[in-house]
Amino acid sequence: MLWDKIAEVYKSWCEIFSFNYKLLSIVIRAYIKNPKYVLDAGCGTGILLRELKFAFPNSEVIGIDISKEMCKISSGIISDFRLIPFKDNTFDLVVFSYSLHEAPMEIEIILNEVSRILKVNGILVIRDVRSDMPSVISVIFYLTLLRFFGEEYVRNLKRKIDLFPNPKEIKSILERNGFEVLRSSEYLFDFEIFSRKK
Ligand SMILES: C[S@@+](CC[C@H](N)C(=O)[O-])C[C@H]1O[C@@H](n2cnc3c(N)ncnc32)[C@H](O)[C@@H]1O
Repeated sequence: MLWDKIAEVYKSWCEIFSFNYKLLSIVIRAYIKNPKYVLDAGCGTGILLRELKFAFPNSEVIGIDISKEMCKISSGIISDFRLIPFKDNTFDLVVFSYSLHEAPMEIEIILNEVSRILKVNGILVIRDVRSDMPSVISVIFYLTLLRFFGEEYVRNLKRKIDLFPNPKEIKSILERNGFEVLRSSEYLFDFEIFSRKK
């Protein structure tokens, strides 16, 4: 698996942008105070997991990831977020950080799964790459990744992002699937949507 091959390089990449993960955890804290169970879906090398544990020291913060090598680094549980191995109504907070685009054609299946494991009023945070980013930004974005991760990674990512709904479409999908959108922000190449399970 490609993610197994690049796990170590991905770890260095995330460390460069560690402030971005810290910032996200600070904003999340404004939306939820004392979650009992927190899930980082597609936790990668665990940089957000670390920040979430720091932000919520009394919570059980769990990461899952499909890649064995990523889980070796993050101490996450190897599993697929399309079939989350937890009971119904378990989590108070679920976060997808740059991971939802990995299954661009299965968003509704994933949201169904998230809805199952989230408690009512539980918070879902999606941060991901904008499939509608301006074309100049897109060139800079992919060229930067190309230098860091190589051609196979960029080709694979671009194929997925091209199939990934844009932020406006994701908001509609969330609303169609029983989530209330609380906040949504779009940046140059990425976006964040905070929502609550109704
Ligand atoms: C771009 S990385 C994001 C990692 C981390 N969340 C972050 O913000 O840095 C995408 C991660 O999603 C994981 N992934 C891809 N498909 C998955 C799936 N179906 N279930 C769980 N994890 C998945 C990959 O192994 C990879 O670690």
